[in-house]
Amino acid sequence: MADDVSPSAASTEGETNLTAPLLDPSFYADDPFPLYARLRAEAPVARNDTLGLWVVSRHAEVVAVSRDPETFCSSKGIMTFEIGSAYATPPTMMHTDPPDHTRYRTLVQPGFRPTYMRALEPGIRARARALVDRIEPGVPVDVVSELAVPLPLQVISDLLGVPEDEWPRFFRWSEAVIPGATDWPEEERAQLSMEMVTYLLEAAADRRASPRDDIISELGAAEVDGDRLTDAELGMVLVQLLVAGNETTRNMMSGGLLGFAGVPGEWERLAERSDASVNRALPLAVEEMLRWTTPVVAFMRTATREVELGGRTIGADDPVLMLYASANRDESVFGPTADTFDSGRDPNPHVAFGFGAHFCIGAVLARVEGRILLEELLARFGSIEAAGPVVRTASPVIAGVKSAPVVFGAQ
Ligand code: HEM
Repeated sequence: MADDVSPSAASTEGETNLTAPLLDPSFYADDPFPLYARLRAEAPVARNDTLGLWVVSRHAEVVAVSRDPETFCSSKGIMTFEIGSAYATPPTMMHTDPPDHTRYRTLVQPGFRPTYMRALEPGIRARARALVDRIEPGVPVDVVSELAVPLPLQVISDLLGVPEDEWPRFFRWSEAVIPGATDWPEEERAQLSMEMVTYLLEAAADRRASPRDDIISELGAAEVDGDRLTDAELGMVLVQLLVAGNETTRNMMSGGLLGFAGVPGEWERLAERSDASVNRALPLAVEEMLRWTTPVVAFMRTATREVELGGRTIGADDPVLMLYASANRDESVFGPTADTFDSGRDPNPHVAFGFGAHFCIGAVLARVEGRILLEELLARFGSIEAAGPVVRTASPVIAGVKSAPVVFGAQ
């Protein structure tokens, strides 16, 4: 009976206290995983009364919510600061539900088809190699500033056909739009976001008029049953690609390399395995970098009706936060080693790219970038070790690493 499991003030006070740190960005600059473990054990579907929010921390419920967009919609916001928002036009395709979402997906997906993404490999390798070449064995290097920041930014710029002299601007734009990524004043962030939208809308109009060999032109020309993206929609998709494809991939790289640095011998073991079976060892390692880091900490949905979830009753209009980072350490799925970085983990059903209809459209690209980075590093270095304190970003959305000094050893 629904009444038996509805939250009461007495039962939810403890859960409100338990989940309170999740609402404080500074919590994420420290180690959030012990709290996630407590949530999974004590209150896997927990009610936070301060925001009227449900927090879902187990793999099973994250998957259940993600696979049911009719009941758990995205159009009322996907981050907690959007609770109560209503959008006349969706700010991103992540903020849409079927049938609108299905339409976007059909029009955008062709630009990300695996064959096209794989064709980018030589360019990505050249970028990665140039960055790896600058690293000296035995000398501490910050993998964030030297590898993880520039590589995805260069790749996404190449993908969008953005010239090198625009890269610093691109970097500032993508930083400005991620909540908590910088301490820049709100006004400056808004100004930068506006600049970014204007630039990409102009680029969209330019490629529609004179197509080139880039994804903007591909998406501008994409047509399904006579339907095309409008200029405004194309601009919106481009903004999303710049933002979604940059910080996320960056933190997969820095977080993943820290995973290796944190487990003595793990890099060497990967090197041995990749010698023996080139095709399988590196993709598996990339999956573990994704699981271990979970670059997108959490996204939100809003219930469209009353529904049971994990023995609790979620009310219509209640927001539900899916903690991907916690689901990816769920012992009931990843076993007793869930908290250990294991680059050979197989199977690895992580949810770092989400699950269901909104599953990350850039997953193939991110995986290719991760694999190529590992290949280029393995070709030169025989070990990786931590070389100083790691500074993390205080963001409830992106599991960011601001600086991560390591030392690569010669082969
Ligand atoms: C390690 C890197 C990445 C991670 C961890 C990641 C994570 C995610 C997650 C969790 C979602 C699901 C959103 C939801 O369910 O609401 C998503 C969707 C999306 N991602 Fe990624 N992403 C990554 C890289 C990229 C790249 C490289 C691009 C593009 C260049 C990209 C573009 C998108 C887009 C457009 C969506 C929306 C898909 C939709 O709404 O149907 N992502 N991503």
